Amino acid sequence: MGWNTWNAFGCDADEELLLTSAQSLIDFGLRDLGYNIISLDDCWSIGRNSSGYLVESPIKFPNGMPSMISQLHDMGFKFGIYSSAGTFTCAKHPGSLGYETQDADLWASWGVDYLKYDNCFNQGQSGTPKISYDRYNVMSQALNATNREIIYAMCNWGNDDPYDWAYLIANSGRMSGDIYDSFNRPDDRCPCTEAPGCAWPGFHCSIMNILNKIPSITSRTMSGYFNDMDGLEVGNGGQDDNEYVSHFSMWAINSSPLMIGTNIPTLSPANLAILSNPAIIALNQDPSAGAAVRKWRYLVEPDDNGQGEIALWTRIMDNGDIVVALLNAGNSSRTMNATMNDIFFDQRTAGAYKTPPELSETWNVYDLWANRMSNEEAQSILSGSNGTTANGTRTGLYNATATSYADGLQNNNTALYGAHVGSIAPSGPFSAEIARHSVGVFRLRSQGNANPRKRDEL
Ligand code: GLA
Repeated sequence: MGWNTWNAFGCDADEELLLTSAQSLIDFGLRDLGYNIISLDDCWSIGRNSSGYLVESPIKFPNGMPSMISQLHDMGFKFGIYSSAGTFTCAKHPGSLGYETQDADLWASWGVDYLKYDNCFNQGQSGTPKISYDRYNVMSQALNATNREIIYAMCNWGNDDPYDWAYLIANSGRMSGDIYDSFNRPDDRCPCTEAPGCAWPGFHCSIMNILNKIPSITSRTMSGYFNDMDGLEVGNGGQDDNEYVSHFSMWAINSSPLMIGTNIPTLSPANLAILSNPAIIALNQDPSAGAAVRKWRYLVEPDDNGQGEIALWTRIMDNGDIVVALLNAGNSSRTMNATMNDIFFDQRTAGAYKTPPELSETWNVYDLWANRMSNEEAQSILSGSNGTTANGTRTGLYNATATSYADGLQNNNTALYGAHVGSIAPSGPFSAEIARHSVGVFRLRSQGNANPRKRDEL
C-alpha cells in the first residue's frame, strides 16, 4: 500500500510534491492505515553520468535523491523508484536494460525500498514467456545481489503470461494495460478484455475492463506475488462516489496493491472516507493473500457507455469468514440476490457432490461499508481539527503501524468487521439493495456450529 505519482501527476513529480504528499498522508491518518510507500514514477532521470550511473533531474530534485529518501524514511515511509526493462522508460527517459547491476546498486545505496519496473522500449525482447522472464530476471538477480530488501513490482501489463512465471522473481505484476479514470467506458486503446494471451494490453483501460480480466487468473495471486490491477483513481474526478467505492472495494478484495494515485493535499472528504475504510483494507491485507472468485456474471440493461452487468464475487478469508461482494454495474439500483449454493459453489463442486456443511450453518452478516466515515468527520480530519495528535497520528482510525491487520483481525478489532446487519439461516437466501454502479461488500461469519474450510484445504 502506498501512493504513486503517475495517475494524478504524470511527469510532473518533484521533491516538493513527494514531501508535501508524505506529510499529508501522515496528517490524514493514511500512512498509519498502511499507505506507507511513496512511489515515484517516470521522468525523474535526465541521463547517465560518465561512469554510467543514472542522474536525477537537478531541477526536480535539487537536494539529490539520497537526501529526499532519507527524509521520507524519517517520516516513516518506504521509497519507490521507477525504471523500465528497456533502453528507455515509457516517457523516454533512460531505461535500465543492460545497466541492471549498476542501477540496482545505485538505488540500494540511495536507500530505495521498491522498484516499479516497466516494459517500454524492450528492444523486441518479448513475445514468449521465456524471453520476458529472462529480461525481468536480470533485474531480479541484481536487486537480490544488493542485499537490500527491495520490493520488485513488475509492470509488463500482463504480456507473455507473467501469471505463470513472475511469482518466481517478483512481488507483484501488472496484469493489464494502464488504468484510466472511467468506470466502464470501452476504449479502442485498451483492446483486450480477457487477460491470458493478451498481445496488446494498451492503455485507457476502465475499472470494469481491468476487473473482468481477473477471474481467469484468480489462482495466480498468492502470498509474495500479487496481481497488480494498477494504481487507484479514487479522487481524480472521473467517477462518482458509488463507482469509486466499487473500484476501491474490488481492488481490495482481489489483493491488488493499493497505491493511491491522486493529489493528497486536496483530497475531498468523501474520497478520504473511501480510502480510509479499515474493514475494506483488512480484506486487502488478509493473511490469506488471495483473490476473489467471480461466481456469476449477468449482462443487464446498458448505460450510456453501452455497458451493463451484475456479478457475485466471493472470497474465503484466513479465519474462515467468507466475503461476498454484490457488484451492480447495471444502469439502475436493484435488489441483488445470492443463494448459499452460489456462495459456496466451489465447496459444492469439490470432488464428489455432497452438501457442503456451510449450508447447514447460520451466518452473521457484517456490512463492510456501513461504518463508512461521515463527510463531516472526514472534513475535520482534512482540516486537522479532529482526532489528530501532536505527532500527526489520527486516534479514531485504525492504526496499522501499531497493530497489523492480521493481528487486528485475530483480536476481533471491531473497526475491521464493519457493522452487524443480520444473519442468514441455514441455506437461506441473501439479498441486498445495491445502488447503480456500486457494490455491497459483506463479511459472513459462521455462528460457530461448524468448522468452515479454508481455501487451501479444498
Ligand atoms: C507505463 C506504465 C504506467 C506508467 C507510465 C510512465 O505506461 O504502465 O503505469 O508508469 O508507463 O511513463
